[in-house]
Amino acid sequence: METSLFDSKQATGPSLLPSSQAPVPLLKTRSTFARKLLVSLGIIIYGAYIWRCTHANGLNLGQLKQDGEGEARCAQSDVLIPEKNGDLWRSLSVTFGTEDFKKRAVDWLGGAVRVPTESYDDLGHLDEDPRWDAFGPFHDYLLDVFPRVHETLKLTKVNTYGLLYVWEGSDSLLKPLVLAAHQDVVPVNPTTVDQWTHPPYSGYFDGERIWGRGSSDDKSGLIGALSGVESLIEGGFKPTRTVVLAFGFDEEVSGRQGAQKLVEVLLDRYGKNGVALVVDEGGGFGENYGSVVAVPGIGEKGYTDTRVEVNTPGGHSSVPPKHTSIGILAALLVEYEAHPFKLELSRRDPFYSTLQCVAEHGKDLPESLRKTIKRSWSSNKALLTLEKEISKNPVYKALVETTQAIDIVQGGVKANALPEQAWALINHRVSVISSVGETQAHDAKIIEGLAEKFNLTFNAFGTKLSKEAFGAPSSGSLTLSDAHPGTALEPAPITPTLGKEATPYKLLSGTIKATYNSHRDLTGANEIVVSPGMMSGNTDTRYYWDLSKHIFRYSHINAGSGTGLGNVHTVDESLGINEFVEMIRFFATLILNADEATDL
Ligand SMILES: *[C@@H]1O[C@H](CO)[C@@H](O)[C@H](O)[C@H]1NC(C)=O
Ligand SMILES: [Zn+2]
Repeated sequence: METSLFDSKQATGPSLLPSSQAPVPLLKTRSTFARKLLVSLGIIIYGAYIWRCTHANGLNLGQLKQDGEGEARCAQSDVLIPEKNGDLWRSLSVTFGTEDFKKRAVDWLGGAVRVPTESYDDLGHLDEDPRWDAFGPFHDYLLDVFPRVHETLKLTKVNTYGLLYVWEGSDSLLKPLVLAAHQDVVPVNPTTVDQWTHPPYSGYFDGERIWGRGSSDDKSGLIGALSGVESLIEGGFKPTRTVVLAFGFDEEVSGRQGAQKLVEVLLDRYGKNGVALVVDEGGGFGENYGSVVAVPGIGEKGYTDTRVEVNTPGGHSSVPPKHTSIGILAALLVEYEAHPFKLELSRRDPFYSTLQCVAEHGKDLPESLRKTIKRSWSSNKALLTLEKEISKNPVYKALVETTQAIDIVQGGVKANALPEQAWALINHRVSVISSVGETQAHDAKIIEGLAEKFNLTFNAFGTKLSKEAFGAPSSGSLTLSDAHPGTALEPAPITPTLGKEATPYKLLSGTIKATYNSHRDLTGANEIVVSPGMMSGNTDTRYYWDLSKHIFRYSHINAGSGTGLGNVHTVDESLGINEFVEMIRFFATLILNADEATDL
């Protein structure tokens, strides 16, 4: 993941968020018991965002009913076990449970960690910057350790280092399944190398965990998918539905060279909506309120940076005007912080669905909270209560609303010269029910009055809004613009989880359950619950929207096990071997289930 506020990959224990990111309890509670439970809600919505609500414009209940009559409140799919390939699946299940296989898995992932594939913010052109060359040895490594994959699947290298493996199905009318992952890792900060328990590129296995950069983000996903395919080939499986593995190589620096180019090729080959479903890295599963919940991400927030620039005449500072560019800019920035975006909780928000799942299945949820969540289904008053409670918590609040953070400010060059220019950058993460356009309109509206007050010509995102438009001279200009043209990202379309279009979601849910159950001794009460969730950061899937409506950001990793994922993007990144083998089980099961599905 490129960024993460708090997602599964950072959860280190069963019911606590990383201490640096521990949220305030969601609701004000009196007992420590309730507080503990509320903190654990953090886990359930790790990677979860709130989709801003539209209840101000009327209830969405009608729409919800249309989408999924009678199945809404955290509908659960049945466990989905392959039938046609049931024998193969059962025999693979046994194989995956052996010590021999565990050893292979350790070697596969450990070896991948030992080939560093760092990506950097300042990477130059692909042909010129030698740091891109790191991916060559990684390809050699894959070729070496996955011989059957390379014999059986057709490999195309897209834009030199993008890996596109196609396992051609016998029925070309079936839309393919795409498993996405990224080859690159975030660089290891050289000053932290000696803080690692085991060197960052050692891939060291201590009998329980595999250590090193990339062991979880995202070489576990990439090697997990390849291991699953290698195992299926060994088991004699031949797909009916085409399986595509698409591995970008610059996800951590926004995916323009990797995923973007891979998707161009895929779109060319399969067309718009030509893919049945896409599964990329994302949320995992863990225990919450006494129940184990998996949270595949069905949406991502948008992103945009606004540049606020003030230009006024320069001159000697011994004869200053009342306000310099810097003073005006300061007033503008104060105005922004005085008028943040409004938080609204929508029933169509993936996070609202997560809350419903907690209310429905969280055995240990405090009753008052359960009541509020359940009542909010049909009561606007209860929905507002819930919204108010969320707004008291800065962490959850940030997940719900469009955020603003003034991250850069510049102006002035000399003590005795009036600053001709001052500017600032505001970073926005756009709420799922809003848009980049709405965010920019908000930015313009907040300071319109001040433009007038300071007698400035106001140009907002290419539109002149005052002064010159009226033919009046001004004492300077105020300009709002996209700070990094071409990088604004709309919130991702929400993947359907209800109604007729929910088949891929059900397939994924049933697969998660089958995987989870396959090697655990379960009584019915301990089964895993699957809940829609929301990603906190952006993934390579930002380029996949046209290819499929059914995009899932999900890593089948036990985030709450204490031996699962740890320390993504920082010192001591590592992954438990049992968790990694379970990922392989998941990929193998998903491929078999997708192969048998007739209505994707
Ligand atoms: C705005 O500035 C211009 C140019 O300095 C000046 O002519 C004009 O009177 C000012 N208008 C107001 C309302 O201060
Ligand atoms: Zn990642």
